[in-house]
Amino acid sequence: MTVYFIGAGPGDPELITVKGQRLIRSCPVILYAGSLVPEAVLAGNSAEKVVNTAELNLGEIIALLRQAHECGQDVARVHSGDPSLYGAIGEQIRELRALDIPFEIIPGVTATAACAALLESELTLPGIAQTVILTRYGTTSPMPAGEQLHDLARHRATMAIHLGVSHLPAIVGELLPHYGADCPIAVIHRASWPDQDWVLGTLADIEAKVAAKEFRRTALILVGRVLDPGAFAESALYDATHRHLYRPGND
Ligand SMILES: C[S@@+](CC[C@H](N)C(=O)[O-])C[C@H]1O[C@@H](n2cnc3c(N)ncnc32)[C@H](O)[C@@H]1O
Repeated sequence: MTVYFIGAGPGDPELITVKGQRLIRSCPVILYAGSLVPEAVLAGNSAEKVVNTAELNLGEIIALLRQAHECGQDVARVHSGDPSLYGAIGEQIRELRALDIPFEIIPGVTATAACAALLESELTLPGIAQTVILTRYGTTSPMPAGEQLHDLARHRATMAIHLGVSHLPAIVGELLPHYGADCPIAVIHRASWPDQDWVLGTLADIEAKVAAKEFRRTALILVGRVLDPGAFAESALYDATHRHLYRPGND
């Protein structure tokens, strides 16, 4: 018996891994984070128990995993995007280890990747940005020391901010001094869902542009010059004069 933590991807049921889908279709027990995982991701399952854990607490979830373990039943534990990011799997893993219940993690397509795809952007462009910071806006769970948005903004890296759309004015205020008013910023709502929508603007005008929308939850903020880079250098990787292991040259 194994508990499989499965990344469901950002919403589109075709953006789950083949392995994740196979396990969802074969496990007799499915626990899924229903606040972000659409039921369409569970299509084709033949489980005898399917539970939406959105309204359960940790103890209740562990009790269900324990019950499945006692019955020798594999569990598909389905989280949105990639489970390693804001999925609260760390605390479940700790409990499973203490109970000696085997588990495995199946990665997924994270929201940041889906949003970059939607914007047709590369998040790491030569000479513009070579670092991506994935963070969230801290309100109920405070951010650790040194990870306030203004601390991270000093790097001027491409940044993906989760769980922040309802705090956009405060976020813009912290980013502005570091990125500049003309820096591009996008707010992407439910990327890859049928009702996906997004707004692209600058730090100067994004608040007004987003105010016209109803982006309450499940929206990601992407900021950085890679979103509208203008001229940027070509990569060394595909430079015709650059020789490397796979392209040693004919001369
Ligand atoms: C609890 S976190 C889970 C992140 C998830 N594990 C991942 O890898 O994408 C939820 C936040 O991720 C972002 N998010 C998740 N799915 C999204 C989507 N399809 N479009 C835009 N943002 C999304 C939003 O900021 C949302 O509030």
